[in-house]
Amino acid sequence: MTPNEASTAAERICTLAPVVPVLVVKNIDHAAPLAQSLVAGGLPALEVTLRTPVALEVIAEMAKIPGGQVGAGTLLTPQDVENAKKAGATFGVSPGATDRLLDACEANDLPLLPGATSASESMRLLERGYSVQKFFPAEAAGGAPFLKSLSSPLPQIRFCPTGGVSLTNATDYLGLPNVLCVGGSWVAPGGLVEAGDWDGIRKLAAEAASLPR
Ligand code: 3PG
Repeated sequence: MTPNEASTAAERICTLAPVVPVLVVKNIDHAAPLAQSLVAGGLPALEVTLRTPVALEVIAEMAKIPGGQVGAGTLLTPQDVENAKKAGATFGVSPGATDRLLDACEANDLPLLPGATSASESMRLLERGYSVQKFFPAEAAGGAPFLKSLSSPLPQIRFCPTGGVSLTNATDYLGLPNVLCVGGSWVAPGGLVEAGDWDGIRKLAAEAASLPR
């Protein structure tokens, strides 16, 4: 897969809904009901971070849920990419980007949303063909004013800001011309997941899905 093809696929995923839930799932039994709740609430694109021992199994379970698009987040190494692809992830997300990681995603036909936090990092990714990027860690790195500042010199790059984004500041980002969607964990809080409050999560997802952009 070429970087241009990856960006086209990433754009399609980022335009499915205003928010991509960022999920840290500790219990495999939570995978199916959590994905069902989020998809039913109107958030079909899900990022499962590779930060728990069961993350790959969670991806495999969530990939079975109709209407969902399950990606693997926190991709750091070529092995992560191979594991995510085998588990059934249809896209990948990384906090930053290295040549080894980009090579692995291209070789494994896994569309990647690569992370960037500066004009130079974004330009380097654009040179390689990645025009859809994750802006991480969004709030800590300058937030919506930073991204707005990039939109004039680099209008051809579109972003999914993630990190510190919540219901209260999501619209600051979604109103920008260079933002396709935002990522965030607030739609699947640990407390509700642990309590099995799937209806509560569906409601949070519906609220997020109705954010204007
Ligand atoms: C993460 O690193 O877990 C993601 O960027 C999500 O960040 P958040 O918990 O601030 O939404």
